[in-house]
Order: sequence, then C-alpha cells, then structure tokens
Amino acid sequence: MNLCVQLASQNRRGLLLANPVMTASGTCGYADGESCLYDIQRLGAVVCKGTTLESREGNIQPRIAENNGGMLNAVGLQNIGVDALIREKAPVWNKWKVPVIVNIAGATIKEYVEIAARLEGVAGVSALEVNISCPNVKAGGAEFGACAASAAGVTAAVRKTTTLPMLVKLTPDAGDIIGVAKAVAAAGADAVSLINTLKAMAIDIEKRKPILGNITGGLSGPAIKPVALAMVYEVAGAVDIPVVGCGGITTAADALEFIMAGATAVQVGTAALVNPRAPLDILEGIESFMTEKGVNDINQLIGAARC
Ligand SMILES: Cc1cc2nc3c(=O)[nH]c(=O)nc-3n(C[C@H](O)[C@H](O)[C@H](O)COP(=O)(O)O)c2cc1C
Repeated sequence: MNLCVQLASQNRRGLLLANPVMTASGTCGYADGESCLYDIQRLGAVVCKGTTLESREGNIQPRIAENNGGMLNAVGLQNIGVDALIREKAPVWNKWKVPVIVNIAGATIKEYVEIAARLEGVAGVSALEVNISCPNVKAGGAEFGACAASAAGVTAAVRKTTTLPMLVKLTPDAGDIIGVAKAVAAAGADAVSLINTLKAMAIDIEKRKPILGNITGGLSGPAIKPVALAMVYEVAGAVDIPVVGCGGITTAADALEFIMAGATAVQVGTAALVNPRAPLDILEGIESFMTEKGVNDINQLIGAARC
C-alpha cells in the first residue's frame, strides 16, 4: 500500500512524507522528551510549536477555555526562540527519520526573514511552515494573513531567504481566503496549510468577565471541522500547489473527508490534546479504510469527492 505524499515537488529538496498524517503546530510542543506518548516516527511529519526570534512567555492566564465541541486557546506563542531551537531541538530531530517542519511567527517581515535565515542549512529542519495569523505591528496589528497583499509580502520575503520547502499556514479570519491562497502560491509557497484557529471568546457570567486573560482566543477542535473542510475544498480548487488540511480532525473518517476534499495531507491538533495517540490512530484508521476498500495508493483518494 502506498501512503507517500509529496508536498514540495517544485523545491530542490522536496518534502516527501511517508504518509499524510502530521501533527498541528502548538499541540505537541517539539515532539521530544515526554511531550509524545507514542512513536512519533510513524507519522508523515511533525510540525513544532510556533517559533519566534526571541523566546516568549506567552499570554497571561487563563489561556485555555473548554467549549462545546472544541476549545479556546490564547497561549500566545510561548516558545524557546529560534536560537535555543537550533541548539537544543534540531540535533534531536536530526536523528529522526520523520521530517520536522518548523512553524515560524513574527511581528514584522524582517523578523520572519531573520528566523528563516537562521534556520537555513540547520540539520534536522526539513521545512518551514509560515504562520501568517500573527499581527503585523507595522500595519496597525492586522494579521499578515488577513489580506492577499500582506500575505504575499511575507511569503515572498521568506522565499528569497530560504531554500527549504515552505508551507504557508492560512488564517480562516481572512476576508478572502481563496485570494490569500492564490497570492501566497504566486509568491513562492510550496504548499498551503489551513486552517488556523478562528477568533472566538467566552464569558464567565458569575464574574461578568471574559474567561481568557487575553479576552479573545482561537477556537479549535470538532466545532470548526465543517468550516475548515469547506475552506480546504475551495482552496484546493483554486491553487495548483498541495493543500494540507487542518481543523477539528479527530477520526480517520474526518481525515479522509479532508483528503477527498482535495488535501494532500492532514494535521491533527486539538484531538491530540484529548487523546495523545490520535494522530497514530487516525493513520491506522486510514490504512484500514484503504485495505477494506481495496485502495492501494493514497493518491487515488486525494480530491476523490471533488465535483
Ligand atoms: C494550544 C494550541 C496552540 C497552538 N499553537 C499554534 C502555533 O504556535 N502556531 C500555529 O500556526 N498554530 C497553532 N495552533 C493552531 C493549530 O495548529 C491548528 O491550526 C488549529 O488548532 C486547528 O486544528 P485542530 O482543530 O485540529 O486543533 C495552536 C492550537 C492550539 C489548540
């Protein structure tokens, strides 16, 4: 049975995954030490926590709130910073067979470029995922991914800096996610991943206050799955580069829906916070489905439900 998928065929290095199941950024840390309770090497790829130029403490507590069908988070990119990642994490990843994709985040284009420059040529780093859901401080705090022009600006700048395969992670809070996807594809992205969390909030009615210290946060989990699926379907129909589907994927059936909508690979986030083995369970479920249906190549399922 062939489960291999290619996410960066135009890139000299390529990004060949042994199977289409990846972790989603921020939901398995750096996948080292005790943050992972199963053999992470069996996955197609690992995406690490969003990485900034300097280390960050993240937002004030509370940062998490449960919600029917999902959760809200306002962790705020708590991370060790790119230099510590290069020193402490990349040497560990370099011994792995599973490719590790570093999710990068910045407040200015210059910051994204500097992080990409430092990651260039670092053994153990197989690709970048550019998180454009970050506020652009030079544009009054609007997210880079909110409009096509600013999304293309950051993509083109990182493209010039890195020879690594580059995924650009889209925000569902963009007014026109299809326009943004087309713009980042034209600016040199090898693939797009979508979706990041949706802006959301919750209120404690006893205290008459927002629950999250940051007031608003990002909604993830099963509640966003139908929204993510529709966006993946539409974006996959609009761009010629691979699409990585993400958002509420909890079961193999969910993952197969995204693949049939046109996703070449999938990322599993919140589900792994509930069941740490979820990415592996999903992979095994995809294999069982293929065996049961007599499908011998995952590529036969990509886009199978497209009209
Ligand atoms: C606790 C938490 C932290 C996250 N941190 C990041 C991050 O650092 N960078 C990023 O691009 N996305 C981050 N995300 C978004 C996820 O990678 C994913 O896009 C989103 O949660 C939707 O997928 P899911 O419903 O499977 O969780 C985070 C999500 C959660 C729940």
